[in-house]
Amino acid sequence: MPFSSRQPPAEKISAATVRTDFNDLLAVVHYTRAAHGLGLWASERALIERFFPNQDAPLIEAGCGAGRVTLGLWALGYRRITAFDFAAELVDQALSLAAERGAGNIHFLVADATDLTKCHVLSDTLFRGALFMFNGLMQIPGREHRRAALRELHRVCAPGAPLLFTTHDRDFSPTERALWRLEGLRWICGDQNPRLVEFGDRYFEDQAGRTFMHLPDRREILDDLAATGWTHTFDAMREAVAPESFAVREFSDECRFWSAVRQ
Ligand SMILES: C[S@@+](CC[C@H](N)C(=O)[O-])C[C@H]1O[C@@H](n2cnc3c(N)ncnc32)[C@H](O)[C@@H]1O
Repeated sequence: MPFSSRQPPAEKISAATVRTDFNDLLAVVHYTRAAHGLGLWASERALIERFFPNQDAPLIEAGCGAGRVTLGLWALGYRRITAFDFAAELVDQALSLAAERGAGNIHFLVADATDLTKCHVLSDTLFRGALFMFNGLMQIPGREHRRAALRELHRVCAPGAPLLFTTHDRDFSPTERALWRLEGLRWICGDQNPRLVEFGDRYFEDQAGRTFMHLPDRREILDDLAATGWTHTFDAMREAVAPESFAVREFSDECRFWSAVRQ
């Protein structure tokens, strides 16, 4: 056989990559620690209380991880919570924390936000509110898949149900804009990380393990909401919502909160 120096094409980041990364010990320890010790951010609490005024309404939380937000909702008095994540190791941690805090009524599931049809228990309830916090939606590779998740949340929610989620914002600061201009040049020349799916994607490693994240601009999210049956009602950067503690800022970058209502 003739020798070929050609490298095989790099494998694109997929849902399976992201799920494996979240099931990794480093990520599980990181998110479990936050669920036990950090709880809700001040901004999350303010917006949850503003957009979900009815504590008796059935809520669905996508990408619940180890239950940081789920148990925060419980502590605020929400009692009809269904929470799911596609990383089974994190859901196990959320279940233990709920048991420890006497929150056994929370319904936890292992499910993929892009296809909830396999979760038959979800067909019993039309939810009156949905959350996808701490950028979980943006950890779905591929815009069509992110839209599929928004469509699935739309399908399991009642008309008028609020949705709350966060993203980064590529245009937030002059530094970000300069860095993304450079990244744009890399994509034009084909020099981007070949594992990335779309412009705006990042794949990096830090104390939480390996992380895939899509960083959108504001227009992209407005279009995705409109295309999936959600009416945009609010968006603001976190710093404009509430000042956060050092611990919260250590745990998480600045982000943009979004709220929409199911049409
Ligand atoms: C940054 S973590 C946030 C976890 C938790 N909400 C918190 O704030 O600590 C994002 C979560 O989204 C989950 N996730 C990403 N894509 C998902 C998908 N397609 N279906 C379900 N969960 C997903 C990940 O497994 C991860 O637990």
